[in-house]
Amino acid sequence: MGFIEVKPRSFVYLLQPKPVAIIVSVDVNGKSNGMSAAWLTPTSRDPPLLAVAISPKRYTYELIKQSRDFTVNILDSSMVDEAELFGSLSGRDVDKFKKSKLTLVKSNVVKSPHIAEALTAIECTLYNEYSAGDHQLIIGRVEKVYVREGVLEEDVYDISKAKVLLYLGGGSYTTTIDRTLTR
Ligand SMILES: Cc1cc2nc3c(=O)[nH]c(=O)nc-3n(C[C@H](O)[C@H](O)[C@H](O)COP(=O)(O)O)c2cc1C
Repeated sequence: MGFIEVKPRSFVYLLQPKPVAIIVSVDVNGKSNGMSAAWLTPTSRDPPLLAVAISPKRYTYELIKQSRDFTVNILDSSMVDEAELFGSLSGRDVDKFKKSKLTLVKSNVVKSPHIAEALTAIECTLYNEYSAGDHQLIIGRVEKVYVREGVLEEDVYDISKAKVLLYLGGGSYTTTIDRTLTR
C-alpha cells in the first residue's frame, strides 16, 4: 500500500465527511436568509463557543456582521435537497426560504430564527472574528441549544435515531451507520 499525492487545495475534502448546517441570519428588516455550511467546529466549552468558516463573499457574512447573531441548524439525511438549495443560491438574489419547505421559528435570545425541521438548532451571538485566508473564522457564543426530541442518549446522538447529514464534498453526501464503533 502506498500514498498518492493530491493538490494542497484539495485537502479540505480529506477532512470530510462533516455535518451540514444551515446558518440562518437576518437583514435589518428582520428578513431571514440561510446558507449551507460544513466548515464548523467547537472551539470552547466554557464559554461555549463554535467557529464557522464563512467566505466574505457570502451574503450571510454581510448579514452576520450587521445583526451580530445567527443560528446553526444541523440537518438530517432527508435534507440533501435543502443543503443543495441553501448552498448554491445567494440570498442576495432569491428568498431561499420561500423556495424551500423549511419552517422558521422565532428564537429566544437572538434575532435570527431557527429551523423547526433541524435535528439541532443553536442560537449564537457573534463573539469574535478572525481572518483565515479566503474565509473568515466567525466565532459564535452558544446561547441556546435545542435538539429534536428522542434522538439523544445521555448527551450524544443515538445514531439509530439521529441521521446526521454529512457532506463529503463535490455535491456528495452520506450519513452514519446504525452502530457506534465502541472501545
Ligand atoms: C454542503 C455545503 C457546505 C458548504 N459549506 C460552506 C462553508 O462552510 N462556508 C462557506 O463560506 N460556504 C459554504 N458553502 C457555500 C455556501 O453555502 C454558498 O456559497 C451559498 O450560496 C451562500 O449563500 P448566501 O450568499 O445566501 O450567504 C457550502 C455549500 C454546500 C452545498
